[in-house]
Amino acid sequence: MGGNLMGKNGLLELKEKIDLDRIPKHIAIIMDGNGRWAKKRFLPRTAGHQEGMKRVIEIVEVAEKLDIKYLSLYAFSTENWKRPKEEIESLMKLLVQYIRNELDRIHKNNVRIQTMGDLSKLPRLAREEVERAVEKTKNNSKMILNIGLNYGGRDEIIRGIKNILEDVKMGKLKEDHIDEKVLNNYLYTYNMPDPDLLIRPSGELRLSNFMLYQIAYTEFWFSDIYWPDFKEEHLYKAIIDYQSRNRRFGGI
Ligand code: FPP
Repeated sequence: MGGNLMGKNGLLELKEKIDLDRIPKHIAIIMDGNGRWAKKRFLPRTAGHQEGMKRVIEIVEVAEKLDIKYLSLYAFSTENWKRPKEEIESLMKLLVQYIRNELDRIHKNNVRIQTMGDLSKLPRLAREEVERAVEKTKNNSKMILNIGLNYGGRDEIIRGIKNILEDVKMGKLKEDHIDEKVLNNYLYTYNMPDPDLLIRPSGELRLSNFMLYQIAYTEFWFSDIYWPDFKEEHLYKAIIDYQSRNRRFGGI
């Protein structure tokens, strides 16, 4: 399946199927398939990332309009450092470009940018731009756009445990009080509910170290299309599918 398959009427019809009273609060997306999208077109992988960035811009806007409160995007994992230097540089450049082009619009729309992952390892320019975006939007309240940068779910849990141990040692936290909620407060997503819906395009059926703790009861939506082909209609389809499911959270 490619992009832009659906005409305007089809898109409207699809949109009308969404129950606006049951919009998922938190959607998480593993943006995958940029490289394969480019390869299919005999383009460099970086062209796939560039196209992928355009989809980020569009999907953030669609999410804002749907009144989704939390959108988590996996942009760069702790494992992505294994990629060729040129590809990493290109991804960091795109991140800087994204912030420079979009920050004013995002801020005007009352969206807060937050990140998950160890930013200290990012190149200086990328880190500074991200920090500027986080600082500028910190009081915004319409939606949290939560971007995974040098993020890994295991890394996040280990970091949380270390901070818990430190606080126990300092007498700030009692060992007896450690429970799911407390650990949650030590994760990057301390101020967000768990994702209701996880979307992964590109045909891969795995989590790739994404939000491992938070995703315990999340509904998954997979699709064969590559992220650069992921359009508004696909987000609608994922939400409609999500709304047809019966979430029991372990109950009956
Ligand atoms: C996975 O595709 C995608 C990434 C590792 C990067 C995602 C980045 C973007 C969509 C653009 C920049 C993002 C922001 C937030 C500005 P892949 O390269 O693993 O694709 P493949 O599996 O087909 O090789």
